[in-house]
Amino acid sequence: MMKKASKIKSISESQVRGPIHSFSETEIKSLRKKLLKWYDANKRDLPWRNIKGEDTNHKAYAIWVSEIMCQQTQVATVIDYYNKWMKKWPTLESLSNSSIEEVREVWAGLGYYSRGQRLLEGALKVQNELDGQIPGTAEQLQKKLPGVGRYTAGAIASISFNEATGVVDGNVIRVLARLRMIGADFTSKNVMAAMWDLANAIVDPDRPGDFNQSMMELGATVCTPQAPQCNTCPVQSHCKAIKQMDHLTRDPATKLTKSILSQPPLKKEEIQDIECAADGCTLCLDGPPDTNLGVMNYPRKPKRKPLRQQIHAVCIVERQLSQESEYLVVQRPDTGLLAGMWEFPSIEIAEGISPKKMRNKMDDYLKGTLNMTLKNVQKRRHICQFVHMFSHIQQTYELETMIIEEEEGDGCERSQESEDTPHHQWVSRSAFENQAVSTGMKKAFEAYNGRAITKKSGKKSKKSEMENGNAAKQRKLDSYFTKKEEKTSRYFTKEDS
Ligand code: ADE
Repeated sequence: MMKKASKIKSISESQVRGPIHSFSETEIKSLRKKLLKWYDANKRDLPWRNIKGEDTNHKAYAIWVSEIMCQQTQVATVIDYYNKWMKKWPTLESLSNSSIEEVREVWAGLGYYSRGQRLLEGALKVQNELDGQIPGTAEQLQKKLPGVGRYTAGAIASISFNEATGVVDGNVIRVLARLRMIGADFTSKNVMAAMWDLANAIVDPDRPGDFNQSMMELGATVCTPQAPQCNTCPVQSHCKAIKQMDHLTRDPATKLTKSILSQPPLKKEEIQDIECAADGCTLCLDGPPDTNLGVMNYPRKPKRKPLRQQIHAVCIVERQLSQESEYLVVQRPDTGLLAGMWEFPSIEIAEGISPKKMRNKMDDYLKGTLNMTLKNVQKRRHICQFVHMFSHIQQTYELETMIIEEEEGDGCERSQESEDTPHHQWVSRSAFENQAVSTGMKKAFEAYNGRAITKKSGKKSKKSEMENGNAAKQRKLDSYFTKKEEKTSRYFTKEDS
């Protein structure tokens, strides 16, 4: 009995939320008014905000697409993909008639590739099982649609069906954390539950979709992770994080500059407003804030797991035909990282492996797994090493190229493959560019082209070819390759999985 009682006590204690972390009714009213006014005047012109007509089912489809694309991806990156998608599949029905290959092609470069697959599965489900009608509430959306979680369901329901339900994404977490001084690890269940409660409490019942978007928009454009623009924030007067910093930086104990000290000190009620009175509050920072960080103390970042380190040898195999060159590409398995995407022949290698061993391993793969003869290799050389970041992997690519004369019976016909042979084929340059290819491989191809183009000029040394290259090409490369001084050229790129 004793044990049970203490367990119950600890559970209730784990949910202590000090009242300073919530909003009063008066504040909620003011917050809604200010945010909506600001949103009306400042919202970005995004294609999914201009959906014409009264057809809520169509609007829900468009919002569903945009919200899935916006997950883990910047809005600016999404716009082109969204437009391309909606042009190809203007209706849910048209999407339901497409193939996974087509979806992968349109999604190529956007990252987190399973999202596109889930969208297609969802469209099929709505078409085949729900009579073409997208569920009209957040609860049903989350229950019925694959890949639709609580956030996406809330966004579709509030924006398309006017349901007064809140949303919590990374931007909203940051805004709420600062407004209400929530500094505990936001990945914990307790803090996330508090975030959802707050989002549901403040959502405007008359304009829920606009209100939710105003919170996201504020987080994306004003209340940013770094260098937030507090001076232009429409809800600064509701922000406890800035009030707290204001107070702390006026305290002589923190050795502040005269100009700040010359401001009048906070009044007693104002101080109470930024000091949590609840014992054991589970939403507070777990220590004093760092005054150098200002409002950026909130939200506190959870400790990141170390990234997995992986090294792959990649070989761009080019076969020169009389008309144009073709490149060998291999399809990845249907599950796991970059499922179903096409890539240049790639094999995982151990760290520190010698260049000779790396080549031998690649030869074994090309001959043993892809049935190539490799009899007519004309040129083979290492191009560069570059690092590509996935969300959880630091992926190093050792990139080499091999030019071969046309091979007879090169094993690339589907019919010649055994069950274990990965699907592979020769593709032209333009086919490669339109294929479902991961960003890492697109970058590999650009690196290869940068070198190839310069090489034809025949004027530069190997090193300067890579560093200076064809000016236009190189500028493009530089936008994602940060050069590091090393024996081999080493570049860093960052993006998707
Ligand atoms: N991020 C994801 N969806 C968004 C939206 N509808 N508005 C602003 N930012 C977003």
